[in-house]
Amino acid sequence: MSERTQATDQPTQPVAGTRLSRRHALTGVAGVGIGVPLLAACGGEENAVDPQAATTQTPATPQAPAEGETAEAASSFASTADVPVGGGAVFPDEGLVVTQPSDGEFLGFSITCPHQGCPVDRVTEEGIVCPCHGSVFDLASGAPTAGPAQSPLGAVQLRIQGTDISRA
Ligand code: FES
Repeated sequence: MSERTQATDQPTQPVAGTRLSRRHALTGVAGVGIGVPLLAACGGEENAVDPQAATTQTPATPQAPAEGETAEAASSFASTADVPVGGGAVFPDEGLVVTQPSDGEFLGFSITCPHQGCPVDRVTEEGIVCPCHGSVFDLASGAPTAGPAQSPLGAVQLRIQGTDISRA
């Protein structure tokens, strides 16, 4: 439910060259596939759609990478612009938090708190925060700096290609 959370001491940066992610693009394609039969069903009888045909319509399938796009780029889940310097962003769907402790240094960690397993849900100027019992983890090492957690967040290797972030 929670979306990416950025460190509060960072000014909101406009995302240069904002792009439509593949996930959102696919969602849009699926929405069109669902919406067209519904719109057609609202028309007059001459435009009526057989309900059986509408329910048997196959869902949109993922598209192959565009020409020149590698498979690694296709698995990208974020842009480097999504992760502020001196902060980080949580990607719940990926089970990852990505930090950028210094300019150009991107690190990945599991969102699973080593204390009792809650997902960390935000990154503040103090570090990566677990909402359940208040553990805080260092941006660079994932080590606990406050709260009951005694061990670090699990490290996850990332691959950075241009501005695309994916798992290594
Ligand atoms: S589960 Fe994260 S602090 Fe307890």
